[in-house]
Amino acid sequence: MLKAENVVKSYNGSEVLKGVSLEVQNGEFVVILGASGSGKSTLLSVLSGLERADSGNVEYNGESLSQMNDKQLTEFRKREVGFIFQQYYLLSHMTVESNVRMGADLAGNKNFREIISSVGLGDKLKSKPSQLSGGEQQRVCIARALAKNPNILFLDEPTGALDEKTGREVLDYISRLQSERKFTMIMVTHNSNIADMAQTVIKMNSGNIVETYKNTERKNAYAIGW
Ligand SMILES: Nc1ncnc2c1ncn2[C@@H]1O[C@H](COP(=O)(O)OP(=O)(O)O)[C@@H](O)[C@H]1O
Ligand SMILES: [Mg+2]
Repeated sequence: MLKAENVVKSYNGSEVLKGVSLEVQNGEFVVILGASGSGKSTLLSVLSGLERADSGNVEYNGESLSQMNDKQLTEFRKREVGFIFQQYYLLSHMTVESNVRMGADLAGNKNFREIISSVGLGDKLKSKPSQLSGGEQQRVCIARALAKNPNILFLDEPTGALDEKTGREVLDYISRLQSERKFTMIMVTHNSNIADMAQTVIKMNSGNIVETYKNTERKNAYAIGW
């Protein structure tokens, strides 16, 4: 379980997270929904150990991130966490295969070609990112993140740069892989339609969680509105 208790985080004296508490079960798919500026990305950074809370506590399977030193926190991220961002951050001079292999190397995982195939890019191993569409590039990012077998995958507006058709495709790949591999998935978005795919939805407004609910019925990537 990933647990946050009364997390506060400020930038330049202004509180961006105002005492956030939440619990995410292992294997759960959670969407964090909120308008731009509500603190979603900041919350992801703190939950994933990229940044530290000013006060409050973040705990993963009973281990407190707040009490880890920098080296332990880096180890934690390496061992447990995968990231997918709106921007692709692929290495442009390297092939699809090499970009994904880098993610796999971090965990000593040799099955990186299998994960490239699982996002439908088995025939693009030798392509460079610039030769791919936006959706294909984001699928490389999914493969790169999953190649290290993370226990928690954090996604920050993963379809924010994609058109509708491509966005649906990418969400479809992500959600299929999550139900197959059962990693915990925490996805941030301002698109309320995407929340219909999640098991649990956490709504944020101005640095606070204002609502948490479970979907009794979940929709797939092609059934949600856009
Ligand atoms: N590194 C930072 N330095 C200063 N201000 C920041 C930083 N990151 C975020 N903020 C501010 O915190 C607020 C929340 O930002 P963010 O967490 O990115 O929200 P969201 O992801 O919901 O759009 C915004 O007002 C933003 O300008
Ligand atoms: Mg953001």
